[in-house]
Amino acid sequence: MDTKSVRDHFRIQVADYPALMRRIIPGYDEQRDLIVRLIPFNHDQRLRVLDLGCGPGLLAEEIVDGFANAGLTALDLTSEMLEACRTRLGGRAGVEYRFADFRTDELGSGYDVVVASLSLHHLALAERPGFCERAFAA
Ligand SMILES: C[S@@+](CC[C@H](N)C(=O)[O-])C[C@H]1O[C@@H](n2cnc3c(N)ncnc32)[C@H](O)[C@@H]1O
Repeated sequence: MDTKSVRDHFRIQVADYPALMRRIIPGYDEQRDLIVRLIPFNHDQRLRVLDLGCGPGLLAEEIVDGFANAGLTALDLTSEMLEACRTRLGGRAGVEYRFADFRTDELGSGYDVVVASLSLHHLALAERPGFCERAFAA
């Protein structure tokens, strides 16, 4: 999907997003818990996390709540999703919101962990190897 189609698709889902996901994605909550459990750092360690395609921030919330000293960048190209993420995480320290396209924009650098939940399938097959290199470099 091109960028505009992705935005148009997700901006209409924002209000009902968690309920919709629980209806159509088997194990939606368990998958998120698994990602958090796979983060190979102590829960009190200082670390920087990049969440690619954060959506309304359910994964970001679990990471920030689970890792007391984590700084997290929540990145998404759908402004409505990023706003919903900001609302969900409102008040938590160390969270930065980035309106950006992970296909074309700089990912940044210095991250200890890069996570993505249900967002990388928007990359075309040919883009995936190069994208993995960029994510690893970040
Ligand atoms: C299915 S939602 C997943 C949201 C969240 N990670 C979760 O697991 O609930 C996919 C999200 O990825 C975002 N997204 C898709 N392609 C993107 C891109 N190229 N750059 C940034 N965000 C993107 C969409 O806007 C949407 O918010």
